[in-house]
Amino acid sequence: MKFLQLITFLFLSVFLFNGCDEPSKKNLSPTEIIADSNLDNHSYANTNQIRTKHLHLDLDVDFEKKTVYGVARHEMENFGADTAIFDIKALDIQKITLGKGAEKETDFMIGRWDKDSILGQPLLVKITKDTKYINIYYKTTEKTEALDWLSPELTAGKTHPYMYTQGEAILTRSWIPLQDSPANRLTYSAKVKVPKDLMAVMSAKNPTKKNEEGIYEFEMNQPIPCYLIALAVGNLNYRKLGPTCGVYSEPEMINSCAYEFADLSKMIRAAEKLYGKYQWEQYDLIVLPYSFPFGGMENPRLTFVNPTILAGDRSLVSVIAHELAHSWSGNLVTNSSWDDFWLNEGFTVYFESRIMESLYGKEIADILSLIEFQELEAEMADISKGEHPEDTQLKLNLNGRNPDDGMTDIAYTKGAFFLKTLEKEIGREKFDKFINSYFKHYAFKTINTEIFVDYLNVNLLEPNQLKFNTNDWIYKEGIPKNCLKIVSPRFEQVQLLADRFAAGEDIFKKQIKWIKIKGRKKKKKQIIQLTRDKYIAQEWMAFIRRLPKKIDPILMRKLDENLNFKNWGNSEIMNEWYVLGINSGYSDIRPYMEKFLMKVGRRKYLAPIYQELAKTPDNLKWAQGVFEKAKSNYHYISSSTIEGILYKKK
Ligand code: BES
Ligand code: ZN
Repeated sequence: MKFLQLITFLFLSVFLFNGCDEPSKKNLSPTEIIADSNLDNHSYANTNQIRTKHLHLDLDVDFEKKTVYGVARHEMENFGADTAIFDIKALDIQKITLGKGAEKETDFMIGRWDKDSILGQPLLVKITKDTKYINIYYKTTEKTEALDWLSPELTAGKTHPYMYTQGEAILTRSWIPLQDSPANRLTYSAKVKVPKDLMAVMSAKNPTKKNEEGIYEFEMNQPIPCYLIALAVGNLNYRKLGPTCGVYSEPEMINSCAYEFADLSKMIRAAEKLYGKYQWEQYDLIVLPYSFPFGGMENPRLTFVNPTILAGDRSLVSVIAHELAHSWSGNLVTNSSWDDFWLNEGFTVYFESRIMESLYGKEIADILSLIEFQELEAEMADISKGEHPEDTQLKLNLNGRNPDDGMTDIAYTKGAFFLKTLEKEIGREKFDKFINSYFKHYAFKTINTEIFVDYLNVNLLEPNQLKFNTNDWIYKEGIPKNCLKIVSPRFEQVQLLADRFAAGEDIFKKQIKWIKIKGRKKKKKQIIQLTRDKYIAQEWMAFIRRLPKKIDPILMRKLDENLNFKNWGNSEIMNEWYVLGINSGYSDIRPYMEKFLMKVGRRKYLAPIYQELAKTPDNLKWAQGVFEKAKSNYHYISSSTIEGILYKKK
């Protein structure tokens, strides 16, 4: 950077923008500066003045240095701005050039971190009113939060390293310098260099085989919000599961994947029948290593999945229905800020439930929804008692807070029950038509809650002269009184069984039954005993939840002897069982729980276990010991949450 240029730009920037690293007299925060050029509280980008239309990434993934070296080539739509503001978080920016072909270096400034280090830093680039191409040369650092670098021991094959990214909500800025707001949609392409024995896949058109050079090219030609840009690199195999779908995983897991996801094609067809054509051509899954902090992540064309979904009995495939549903709600119609997160997740949970109903029947879908509703009630009670009871509204105000705070069952399940209740009031036929037209109307657009409410009024409520308490659902706390109540005889039956067991009945006693056989006079004697295949996994979940919170450990042991909850295979059940076990002082689970905590990095499981352990000094000490050993197996998203629980930082 030329000295004179630097001085002028410094002067201009300090004048225009006071959030740089040097202490400044004027107290304008970066957020204030961008306040009128961006409506997203969680991004510094001035997308109203200049926005990325297309992003090309040149990436070199270096496993030895655990660093991604990159050039982010932004093709901009410039409305006359002379500064472009990007989001970055712990990135090392090396140089920035303008132009395509003939590039010219330009000046840039990096602003101060926000108070809680949530947003990262604004990156100001000096441009002119007709600048169209901005190229940012950078590398990731040790502190890059989106990336998970795994040594071979943490993979299924134990022979090759692995790396994957997680962008949602605001971590994409930690591995790519960009305008990290869901309000802007962009297309992207990429050229990624990886070690020769590994394969790279992205949320884009993907290879199905390794190539000799270790160089892979990608294209995503449909505009997406940037939290959906994703990359995974590992020793990958591909298995086709249908005409337009398949699964990637390490070779060691590919057969279990093919078994578990055998219904994938049917799911896609069911979803299309409900809400219109799948818009992304191909739908693949990639089953990542256990450290992946979520159950699933809806990266377009390539859903990322946690291997805990491989229960061995297809009992957790609703997660796939969920991520597939995001191909409409979330990826096609996107929340414009994290305050509107329920538009992504509430619609998706509703849609997921409809897919499950189409494939497996209403009885199953109802049981799944009831399980979720119980979780909603518990979380609702927690949030209502906490510091932010207003977080039980669907529309949130997360200004100044981590968007993660809004990622609760409120958005998911209250959101879904809002739609289920609406469906009941208006009738399924009209409601489905409405949802279909909603997805069509806003396809590849980004909307907020207010736009949805308008659309609902004009296209569904008014034409049908229906009065509905939409505002209570969206802008008030708690669960409105008219919320749909699901009645499931199967659910009730298994709860009754739990009550009988807790009251001392021997539910495992062998019983003799005489059954009639067709064409024979004599009845046949059959000995029946309660075994795990009598109920589906979610019914067993309901069973465990119904047991007294301080159940006698002797009873827990009896259940384990007969059903082996402690080592069941379905991680939802194991998770539920461990939490109950800690609370009841059932020490038999410790070795199993430790194994689970060492292996699984999914935050939804880790957080409740560690939270329960943190309640007594003895357990807390043990938990801290386990965490210290396990934390290198977790993604930053999980380890930072658990650190907050065990060391009370948060
Ligand atoms: N989009 C979410 C995951 C997410 C949410 C990542 C917020 C980062 C921030 C994904 O679709 C999801 O909801 N996953 C769930 C599974 C689902 C069946 C409820 C999960 O991972 O538990
Ligand atoms: Zn989701």
